[in-house]
Amino acid sequence: MSIVEAQPALDPTERAEIRNLIGHYPTARAAAIDALKLVQQRRRYIGDNLLAEIAHLLGLPAAELDGLATFYNLIYRKPVGQTVILLCDSITCWITGRDHLAQHIERRIGIKPGETSADGRFTLLPIVCLGHCDHAPAMMANDVLHGNVDPATLDAMFDATPLP
Ligand code: FES
Repeated sequence: MSIVEAQPALDPTERAEIRNLIGHYPTARAAAIDALKLVQQRRRYIGDNLLAEIAHLLGLPAAELDGLATFYNLIYRKPVGQTVILLCDSITCWITGRDHLAQHIERRIGIKPGETSADGRFTLLPIVCLGHCDHAPAMMANDVLHGNVDPATLDAMFDATPLP
């Protein structure tokens, strides 16, 4: 069993930004996902201690915020690599070869869906339809959407990503 270390506490700037964000929504709950995203942009994932701090600022029980974070699959609750590859596994991408791409990823960098490469560069996660079916197979690498993905697309990304 791996133990995930606590992340450094929210700093005053992050706290101020979250409070400011809450002011733009009718309820703190409505601000929850954006607050999580705001913190994740800097910290890469939302560990338990950060989740508890954010929940406190929002005035929500940590379990409720955890439920929201888990439901919204772009919030990462465990450490992820420098680049998160979200490989679509819905029907059109499946028909057009997403399994072939997953096998290529495993051959090239040794990870299966749900895993992070040993060098910390990549995490591979499955995701439902990215709305890019007319360019299937599709993936998102961090915030960048890629269509018509083939092994060459992946190789170019692997070769261009330095060690963290
Ligand atoms: S099925 Fe993959 S983008 Fe729609």
